[in-house]
Amino acid sequence: MNRILVTGGAGFIGSNFVHHLVRHTDAHLTVLDLLTYAASEASLTELPQDRVDLVVGDIAEADVVEPLVAEHDAVVHFAAESHNDNSLDDPSPFIRTNIIGTFTILEAARKSDTRLHHVSTDEVYGDLELDDPKRFTEDTPYNPSSPYSASKAGSDHLVRAWVRSFGVRATISNCSNNYGPWQHVEKFIPRQITNVIDGGRPKLYGDGLNVRDWIHADDHSSAVLRILQRGRIGETYLIGADGERNNRQVVTAILEHFGRGADEIDFVRDRAGHDRRYAIESGKLRAELGWAPRFHDFESGLADTIAWYVAHEDWGRPAKAATEAFYATKGQ
Ligand code: NAD
Ligand code: DAU
Repeated sequence: MNRILVTGGAGFIGSNFVHHLVRHTDAHLTVLDLLTYAASEASLTELPQDRVDLVVGDIAEADVVEPLVAEHDAVVHFAAESHNDNSLDDPSPFIRTNIIGTFTILEAARKSDTRLHHVSTDEVYGDLELDDPKRFTEDTPYNPSSPYSASKAGSDHLVRAWVRSFGVRATISNCSNNYGPWQHVEKFIPRQITNVIDGGRPKLYGDGLNVRDWIHADDHSSAVLRILQRGRIGETYLIGADGERNNRQVVTAILEHFGRGADEIDFVRDRAGHDRRYAIESGKLRAELGWAPRFHDFESGLADTIAWYVAHEDWGRPAKAATEAFYATKGQ
């Protein structure tokens, strides 16, 4: 694959993926991104100019998408509205980008017979109880809770239907919670790191015992590349790195890192419909495609990520005040 189109490549995981491809392949990359509030052009500026082009455009517009898809060997589709709290505030952009946008990409891939990898989330499976020994597998029934996760579930179903009905050459991955550089300060880990850098306190929703299964964005990237190269068409692969922690454990680790007391936490209003626990069984990806994560230890990956935010303090600064103003209106 010499030419790869990466939708959403100026966002958090998309930009980590572009960096990963530049390091690990010789492919020429085109990023298609609308540059919404969630994007950061700065995440792409240090890349070699002759390897990466940026096209600013909307994945829901066929006249933008179709010629671009046709001139690439593969599309890796990250572009989405990605934040649950925003989807509770206003679901409409989630329906447009995540569902109409994915439909538009699929129609383009169908017309030009271009290989497609669709990036999705473990949230399509709903949630698990804290004491449930089960984890999500590729056979877990869909049961999304929020407008965001329902829109991603809808996009997955479209991909499955286009594979079966039209023979589109697509794979799907559903990954757990990512952390790492370039993640918007609205998300849990960067929000708490930047709160503490600013001398404030982490904000925990509800009782703070909700569990997420953390994976470094570079490990998500290596898994997506492996599926793109070796995955079986029509298959879904779950991506996870055995990183289950509850939210309180994560903020305790952040506070300890900065030498602050473990109880310096504000408990704030819970998220509506807040999923209790996510957990991924990634045995299929590991056994079939020989993938393994590089960051085995969440605490050391978190320490690297904290160091990145300290070294790039200016990066999230422009978005921080508006983000906190939004949360303040919600009592969060
Ligand atoms: P993000 O919000 O950081 O980035 C999304 C990017 O998509 C932004 O650059 C934005 O400008 C772009 N975009 C939004 N609407 C667009 C449109 N209509 N046309 C073109 N570009 C548009 O998101 P992220 O956290 O990097 O997530 C990327 C993908 O990975 C999403 O599909 C998400 O569902 C999935 N995912 C995320 C996680 C996670 O923990 N963040 C975990 C599993 C799966
Ligand atoms: O599981 C994959 C999903 O992970 C992705 O599909 C989503 O795009 C991504 O945003 C993420 O969703 P979450 O809702 O799990 O992530 P978020 O960072 O918003 O919250 C993580 C947990 O932390 C969740 O239990 C809510 C909680 N939280 C969040 C914020 C912002 C807090 O306790 N305090 C906060 O300030």
